[in-house]
Formats: sequence, C-alpha cells, structure tokens
Amino acid sequence: MLWDNQDRYGAVTRTLHWGIAALMAWQFGGMLSESLLGDEAPLAVALTANHTQVGTILFVLIVLRVVWAAVNRDRRPPRRAGLLGHAARLGHVALYALMLAVPSAALLRAWGGERGFAPFGFQIFAPRAPDQVVKTATDIGSNFHGELAWVMGVLILGHIAMALFHQVVLRDRLLRRMAG
Ligand code: HEM
Repeated sequence: MLWDNQDRYGAVTRTLHWGIAALMAWQFGGMLSESLLGDEAPLAVALTANHTQVGTILFVLIVLRVVWAAVNRDRRPPRRAGLLGHAARLGHVALYALMLAVPSAALLRAWGGERGFAPFGFQIFAPRAPDQVVKTATDIGSNFHGELAWVMGVLILGHIAMALFHQVVLRDRLLRRMAG
C-alpha cells in the first residue's frame, strides 16, 4: 500500500507526485498569469505572492520524491522495452534533474544575496552585507532559475501529453499505476 510494487505506485509516491503536480501548476499559473496579464493583475498577485515559500516546499517534496524513488527502485513498475521505454527514462531523468536544479538555483541566489531568506518567518539564510554577497551564487540564480523553469515547464507539458497518449491512443492503462 505505502510502497511501490510491480503493478502500481504506492501511496507515498502518489501523494508526492500529485502534490508536486498541484504546486507546480500553482507556480507556473502565477508566472504565466504575470506574463500574460501583467504584474498587477489580481490573479497574478494572488498566485505569485508566496512564490518563494511554495518553491521551498516544492524543493523539500522533490528531494523526498528522489529519495523515495531510490529506496523503491527495485520494486517499481517495470520500464517499457524498446525506444519508447528509453525515451521515457530519459525524459524522467531530465525532469528529476530540472525539478532539483530550478529551486536549487533560486535558493543559491537567496543564500548568496543581500536580503537573506526567511520563508514562513523561519530564517534559513541570514542577510549579507553588500561586500559579503557571493556574486557567483546570485548570478547562477539570476541566469538559470527562470530559464530552466520554462524548460521544465515544456518537459512537464510533454510528460502530460505522453500520459494522455498512453491513455487515449495506446490504451495500455499506464495512468492507472499513478492515478487508478
Ligand atoms: C520548483 C519550484 C519553482 C518553480 C517551478 C519556479 C518557477 C519560476 C518561474 C517560471 C519564474 C519566472 C521566470 C521569468 O520571469 O521568466 C520564476 C521566477 C522567480 N522565482 Fe521561482 N520557481 C520555483 C522556486 C523558487 C524558489 C524556491 C525561490 C526562492 C527561494 C524562487 C524565487 C524566484 C524569484 C525571486 C523569481 C523572479 C526573478 C527570476 O526570474 O529569477 N523560485 N520562478
């Protein structure tokens, strides 16, 4: 029930998968509505107000997800053989790598920057004096966080499209492993 098995993913993997999906939708919904409707639009303001806090929760959930996947690696549903199986594996590895890299780049910027970082009032990184700023860290965040996030957004769309392709075209009931 809790553990993954050969037929389906267990409750822990499912909770992490759909929890991460919902929070990703929140993050991208916020950033997309900001781009499309403008920074001042009520929807954009509502969805982005807690971007850094939601992003931090996502980071924790993603780390747990990676650890849980590693612990379960020998009992998860088997990968499909052939080209489709290899493509799926590559896509999932890229997704995991980006899910870790995107919030890490932002957190690195917060660590190296002047303002400090205290999500939910808990100080994780103290503010720095201007001459203590770690420019390499802030540059990594500024150059990669948003850019990699959009690349990840495209991969997520591909991931959803492939799940639907399995469901609607191949009709192999693959979605049941995570949703059934
Ligand atoms: C998986 C989690 C996250 C996702 C999917 C995500 C996604 C995004 C996206 C799509 C943008 C818009 C980039 C643009 O304007 O083109 C953005 C910007 C931003 N994010 Fe995140 N983010 C996440 C986590 C975080 C975290 C943990 C922090 C802070 C510690 C953070 C801080 C920011 C800031 C300050 C901006 C505006 C400046 C910039 O573009 O870099 N994000 N994020």
